[in-house]
Amino acid sequence: KTGAFTFDPGFMSTAACKSAITYIDGDKGELLYRGYAIEQLATNCDYLETCYLLKNGELPSKAQYDVFTKTVREHTMVHEQLTRLYQGFRRDAHPMAILVGMVGSLSAYYQDSLDIANPEHRDVAAMRLIAKLPTITAMAYKYTIGEPFMFPRNDLDYSSNFLHMMFATPCEKYEPNPVLARALDRILILHADHEQNASTSTVRLAGSSGANPFACIAAGIACLWGPAHGGANEACVAMLEDLMAQGGVEKIGEFIAKVKDKNSSVKLMGFGHRVYKNYDPRAKLMRETCHEVLNELGLQDDPMFKLAMALEKIALEDEYFVSRKLYPNVDFYSGIVQKAMGIPVSLFTGIFAMARTIGWIAQWNEMIGDPEQKIGRPRQLYTGAPHRDVKPMAFR
Ligand code: SDX
Repeated sequence: KTGAFTFDPGFMSTAACKSAITYIDGDKGELLYRGYAIEQLATNCDYLETCYLLKNGELPSKAQYDVFTKTVREHTMVHEQLTRLYQGFRRDAHPMAILVGMVGSLSAYYQDSLDIANPEHRDVAAMRLIAKLPTITAMAYKYTIGEPFMFPRNDLDYSSNFLHMMFATPCEKYEPNPVLARALDRILILHADHEQNASTSTVRLAGSSGANPFACIAAGIACLWGPAHGGANEACVAMLEDLMAQGGVEKIGEFIAKVKDKNSSVKLMGFGHRVYKNYDPRAKLMRETCHEVLNELGLQDDPMFKLAMALEKIALEDEYFVSRKLYPNVDFYSGIVQKAMGIPVSLFTGIFAMARTIGWIAQWNEMIGDPEQKIGRPRQLYTGAPHRDVKPMAFR
């Protein structure tokens, strides 16, 4: 049941809930959204089609798609007073800190879609979140670089509009590159949902108390920020930059030795996964997308991409990684492609949050819609002091 956790004595794994949304076979390296393979969705659909699928359980017809995209377009702007909240942040605030604050504050603006018992309210809140996350994320970026916020352009598709809000300025003509927009759209699809990962479980647990959807999604963003989870793409680029500064490919052997050293806490960021004990299917698609973007931008010889491929090749043959079934995950290439697109490293996890918002909403909706769902209340294995009496301070 939702929120009921069963601890297997053998490992601290948890079977958190039933869900019909996403299926992962970690051994086969398989990922399905509502029964469709991620490879087919990333190739044949766009992100809003995938949002419709995750939210409603079926891929949309043309008519359904048109209504859905029109509704998203009608909610892309944020309340004018919300834009003033950005002034409260330092200019060098991490975008994830801003996203946690701004998404949580939506609860204070949209009282008309907070009654979670009302399916219509839930639907309006969902569409507002899908539509506003790109605007809020792009505004976080603009705020940190001291440029004016760009209004959404409803004549553009979802990903082109995000690139517009990120990189356009009032004084220059800007048309988003369609190849980069398509690449971003695919990156959003690859990150849209992933079963009961840490941040989705956070959203479910917060939602099980009846908290409003905006607050629950803000909780998910906070959890995703961690370097072991959504922050791994940022950490992966930092790792590659360090390696390049120390000498690049020639230093890979030394670096791998450090990772393997039992006494070192150095991890190969972008490798390993709690569930995948095979190649993360998203990593393959991310590498292809990376290739496409680098070719489009004439960066085929990008040293960081070459270093990442060399690192991957060595790691895939090294006993330490092979024996532990450590393969590249979605984060290994996502940082390189976003960096090539001009997206600042500090915003990588923000884009992950933007993409994952639909997964969080779909999972939250599924839980709230379950008549049997109860408040989540994980138990513990108590390892503290036995029952004892208090002694007066003079005798302590
Ligand atoms: C995401 O859950 C999701 O679905 C998450 C996500 C999603 O879409 O929501 O897929 C997104 O979070 C992907 C993961 C991004 N994180 C990273 O890339 C950070 C680097 N990876 C590691 O921190 C680690 O692999 C985890 C956190 C992802 C998984 O950690 P686990 O469960 O401890 O890994 P494991 O049990 O498989 O580890 C087995 C062994 C251990 O060594 P031993 O104790 O056996 O000697 O492998 C080691 C680990 O220390 N190990 C690594 C490693 N990952 C695991 N050693 C070096 N480098 C690594 N990356």
